[in-house]
Amino acid sequence: MDFPIFHLDFLGNRALIAIIAVIHAIINHALAVGLMPVVAMLEIKGFRLMQTNPELAEKWDSLAYRILFVAFLITTTIGAMTGVGIWFSASLVNPASIASLIRVFFGAWFVEWMVFVTEVVLILLYFLTWKKLKANMVKKFKHVKYGLFLCFFSWITMAIIVSILAFMMDTGNWNNDRTFIYGFVNPLYLPQLLFRTPLAMTMGGMIALFLTLIYTRKDPDFRKSALRSISKWVLVWGPLAAAGAMLYYYVIPTNLVGNLPVAMGTIEFQSWYSQIIVIVIVAIGLVIGMANWAYFRPNTAPAWLAAVSILLIAGLMGHFERLREFIRKPYVIGEYMYSNGLRVEDYPLLKRDGILKHANFVATKEVTDDNMIEAGRDVFILTCSRCHTANGAVNPIVGKFTVMFGKEPWQTPQLKGYIKNMHSARYFMPPFPGNDRELDALCAFIKELQTNPQPVTGAQDGLGFNKPKPAQSVAAR
Ligand code: HEC
Repeated sequence: MDFPIFHLDFLGNRALIAIIAVIHAIINHALAVGLMPVVAMLEIKGFRLMQTNPELAEKWDSLAYRILFVAFLITTTIGAMTGVGIWFSASLVNPASIASLIRVFFGAWFVEWMVFVTEVVLILLYFLTWKKLKANMVKKFKHVKYGLFLCFFSWITMAIIVSILAFMMDTGNWNNDRTFIYGFVNPLYLPQLLFRTPLAMTMGGMIALFLTLIYTRKDPDFRKSALRSISKWVLVWGPLAAAGAMLYYYVIPTNLVGNLPVAMGTIEFQSWYSQIIVIVIVAIGLVIGMANWAYFRPNTAPAWLAAVSILLIAGLMGHFERLREFIRKPYVIGEYMYSNGLRVEDYPLLKRDGILKHANFVATKEVTDDNMIEAGRDVFILTCSRCHTANGAVNPIVGKFTVMFGKEPWQTPQLKGYIKNMHSARYFMPPFPGNDRELDALCAFIKELQTNPQPVTGAQDGLGFNKPKPAQSVAAR
């Protein structure tokens, strides 16, 4: 509430972060953490043959280079931009939560920043000096070392960020003893890292497999050796990724589902749980099948099937990220801060004084009989808009109440009764934080949305972007 509230009323705020972050995570895992070690492995294979069989060495070397080219192109453009995009979108949508995370993880992010800059320098060096540093063994050895350092630093950036992601799900002991070290080594950190690392390696291997199937069409002998090496990589990491996924999913329910007070929530979670298990099994089967095919019948292995497997793992990973974000609700930082950006410990104060009094960027500071709708709009923005749109495509509040209460004009006691208890009806929603007058105002605004559908504007609209037509916005500031 210390910041103006940005709001997208069509797509919803969650979707903005989700789209950017999922693209970033997939590129990071598949192309930075996972593919770089495969490129380094292929380069080393060539390096070891430089003296005994220069012709074959050159084949390994050029395959590695061509694969690196793809990774280089994508990681330094879409990868880098979506990385910055996560910062922008997350700090627009939930500045309070990013601010808290920066306070807890200041040291970790500081180190991560340096590691990240090193990683960028290394990938530039690795790619741009490839041709120059292959004249002799000594130079090539130096270049191989760039690659190995690059693999190491790419993994370290992920290893640091995963701690922060895991912390948001379960803060563990940090809630009692707020020190950095308790925050960093939170209960879900290692299981998540043990899952993401082999997952990244498997994805990297599959992309290398796909590219090799395309690049080595005209050279069946070399194709055979190259595919064998890469499929061995996939066959080692794939099962580890599956084991990591199992470990991770078995750790989560006890930690998170155990906290969920309502059985309904558990049922909902379980239906996704079984759904995800099926997709995981299909994906693993496809990946292992594909790797075996490439190993035993390298000349008939189809590139399209590799592409399908890659798309499936990418989709699965997107689903996994969504699930991870969802089961954390109603918190954005486990047990510490709700997704609406309000701290759990501030709730008694907000309930007593009302939230408007403590909000810096609202049009109304107090609810009166004359400003019910306008105040209700502010209350909606403060308490519901992080997850709901008014009439938008994603999670529209009007749609939700229509499903529950029908199309007839809704009554205040009906709405009020639901909102007062919404956190126990649906575990994933935080309790309503304001006082009774504010709840009345919110109900007045929701009723207004029903009879007079209108988009709810965010702070950015006041800057002149996407300004609603005056007739449409009853409550425009
Ligand atoms: C932390 C995010 C979050 C916040 C904050 C939030 N909601 Fe929700 N709400 C959800 C989600 C997620 C759903 C379920 C969407 C779906 O159908 O899958 C939901 C569903 C609902 C439903 C339908 C429930 C049902 O049983 O079908 C209503 C009504 C609702 N919200 C009202 C509100 C109101 C009013 C506020 C503000 C006071 C609010 N929500 C704040 C996330 C949130």
